[in-house]
Amino acid sequence: MTNIDALIVRELLAAEGDYVSGSQLAELVGISRVAIHAHMEKLRGQGFDFEAVRSKGYRVLKLPEQLNQTLIQALLTQAASDLAVNAFEQIDSTNSEAERQLAMGEATPFVVFARQQTAGRGRLGRAWHSAENGNLYATFAFRPQISPTRMALFTLWMGINLCQCINSLCRIDCGVKWPNDLQIDGRKVAGILTEARMETDQVRDVILGIGLNINSDRDDWPPELQQSATSLRQETGQRQDVNRVTAAIAGRIMIAYQQFLDGEHRTLLKERWAKYDTLYGQTVSLNQGDARISGTAKGIDNSGSLIIERPDGSHFQARAGEVTLEKRPV
Ligand code: BTN
Repeated sequence: MTNIDALIVRELLAAEGDYVSGSQLAELVGISRVAIHAHMEKLRGQGFDFEAVRSKGYRVLKLPEQLNQTLIQALLTQAASDLAVNAFEQIDSTNSEAERQLAMGEATPFVVFARQQTAGRGRLGRAWHSAENGNLYATFAFRPQISPTRMALFTLWMGINLCQCINSLCRIDCGVKWPNDLQIDGRKVAGILTEARMETDQVRDVILGIGLNINSDRDDWPPELQQSATSLRQETGQRQDVNRVTAAIAGRIMIAYQQFLDGEHRTLLKERWAKYDTLYGQTVSLNQGDARISGTAKGIDNSGSLIIERPDGSHFQARAGEVTLEKRPV
């Protein structure tokens, strides 16, 4: 983290509401006290507020409520210290922006955040509703240098880590719906869109797009989403701090990515998935193009495929497709 503003904010946050002197800040970042004053003014312009008292220094009065690059950088843990952060007010799609940056040779890992997307993309060519409602639209970019066959478990592993991170942060009961949805009581709170570019025997780069509904209210959704979508705010009854949630997720994703590279997911994924699997034991239908397979969901196999037990007892292993719950007769 080389950004001076983020270093200043980090130091002030560490003081937990106490004053930090201008000379202490100046020494920390290696600039003059006058220059510190100029940085404080710049931060005020971003939505921070500070009290400045002669002979005591500065203390934080208010933090920005909207997604803020400086605050996220200041809140990032050691696990994410290598992560470059790019935050936008508005962008077409954070996945598209990450692709553009990768194509230009940008160093990885990096993450692109936006307060709003004008062309947010979902799975299967769908749109992702991306209004400016205090939600998270984020894309992490990596160059993993691994064989393409190893990518099969990537999205599932990241999904389960995202799910655990959200549950511990917000004390809620979020689960995973194969392959890439996070749900609370049957309503979708987050979706993941992974896109990878392959060379013959190696993954060239991979982007992990996460849409997480943090502060949307029921009325914010278009009518077609009001029954099927939810947000952390709706589930907890409290507005959530988008910057703290975002920084915590970034830290968790970086740890999960390293575990993935180290192969730790191979022993951990199935057991963790079973704990959060919202489909297990449910009667489901899987649509794969024109084909439709119905049966009982039985978790995932070692390759991440969804196991569906047909009425005749045979097992179908689904590598891809869209799963819906079958309505049981009343
Ligand atoms: C899905 O459930 O269909 C996946 C949705 C993924 C949406 C996120 S929002 C941030 C990133 N940018 C995009 O355009 N899409 C992903």
